[in-house]
Amino acid sequence: MVIFGGGGDLTRRLLIPAIYNLTCAGLLNPDFAIVAVDWAEMDTEHLRAQLEITIRQFVAQRRATAVTLQEDEWNWLCQRVSYVRGSFDDPATYQRLGEICGAGNCVFYLAVAARFFGTIVSQLDAAKLTAETDMGYRRVVVEKPFGSDLGSARALNTKLLASLNESQIYRIDHYLGKETVQNILALRFSNGFFEPLWNRQNIDHVQITAAETVGVEKRGRFYEGTGAMRDMVPNHIMQLLAMVAMEAPASFDADAVRDEKTKVLAAIHETTHRDAVRGQYDAGTIAGRPIPGYREEPDIAPDSETETFVAMKLNIDNWRWAGVPFYLRTGKRLTLRKTEIAVHFKQAPYALFRDTPVEKLTPNIMVLQIQPSEGVTMQFSAKLPGPVVKLGGVRMKFDYADWFQEGPSTGYETLIYDCLIGDATLFQRADNVEMGWRVVQPILDAWQAGQGEVCQYAAGRPGPAQADELLARDGRHWLRLTA
Ligand code: BG6
Repeated sequence: MVIFGGGGDLTRRLLIPAIYNLTCAGLLNPDFAIVAVDWAEMDTEHLRAQLEITIRQFVAQRRATAVTLQEDEWNWLCQRVSYVRGSFDDPATYQRLGEICGAGNCVFYLAVAARFFGTIVSQLDAAKLTAETDMGYRRVVVEKPFGSDLGSARALNTKLLASLNESQIYRIDHYLGKETVQNILALRFSNGFFEPLWNRQNIDHVQITAAETVGVEKRGRFYEGTGAMRDMVPNHIMQLLAMVAMEAPASFDADAVRDEKTKVLAAIHETTHRDAVRGQYDAGTIAGRPIPGYREEPDIAPDSETETFVAMKLNIDNWRWAGVPFYLRTGKRLTLRKTEIAVHFKQAPYALFRDTPVEKLTPNIMVLQIQPSEGVTMQFSAKLPGPVVKLGGVRMKFDYADWFQEGPSTGYETLIYDCLIGDATLFQRADNVEMGWRVVQPILDAWQAGQGEVCQYAAGRPGPAQADELLARDGRHWLRLTA
């Protein structure tokens, strides 16, 4: 595996720990090796020492306190890491890589800023490093962000496809590496009792929430030009929506799954800015800690209009979902960290019980919890104990951590392993990416043209009041953001 950006943060924090986990699980080929490519002045010994510090920190913060670093496995992996210093646009870098890689299997992992994607792939092609032979495959992993709008995503696809076949490109969306995201398909399609209810006859609406408490951290410069919509919606949120709303694929073959995802995203009715709310956090408090406003963060313009929150309403024009709105919200510096999908079922048609009119019945809600708690919760009505017949809401919960001993992985393990074995199911195809952008493009255009105000919300709140109004218009409200 050749990692461009091998001296960077993503490699240290996520890729190497994930590859270490694969080593411990015995899933790597005995000939596996990593070549880290970066421009920084450094050598192999220095890089290995840096990685060792991070891997010890990573292991120390794992949930299971008894876990310690497996020294033999780590030493095996560490000895297989080497460093190549070079510029990404210099043919000499690729000549050197050609000498190291030889004819075997090779994954080129682009853990670099998006502006280098095209250059690196063209240079790999020019150096004949992308040509697959009987001796080995050649695959390229492309990180996010994949374009900054529909036009640039298409242009990037064209550029990559000039040097590679679609089957060689692995576009990562790290949400698809999360166990609980993958579990959505298992839950829907391997159980008999969900799927018959999963349609417009029984479901009132769906809410998808990806709430974060973190701000823009050290990424101010990147975030200023990106904003919450581009950062989260066409990619992560659209993937969640596709998992919940897609039809059953004919098989779990990569293309069968990706065909269905593309179809459901293509069925999303054209959006307008009236179906969206953009917000930006102001100063506030989270967990008792004072938080500065977005415009006071480093590298942020004092009059910035970049959104740190988005809420949207979408409709899917197909037989399964016509008339069932999907409400999405995501933001930084919100009340708490929570990613979940709440499927709200229709009310029972009438209430049999005294003192419980239909509108007072607890709605049936099935919540697929993605993070930080991982599992599934079902909310329904039950008789309250006592001689007087009354109903109340109860919850039934399946918790991953209770049931399975291992805490879910960081997500990169599955993705890297799948790429090594050539399973592209969890990676985005060119048309998936473009469909995600298609959905948000009209809103981005309207915002660019100055339509739709940027609504302020205090850090620590669940978002701006206008996001509540978006649902109130339809007589609905967001599930409360509580632990
Ligand atoms: C990234 C975004 O893709 O996803 C970040 O660029 C965001 O801004 C992150 O914080 C959220 O990922 P997770 O796994 O923490 O939910």
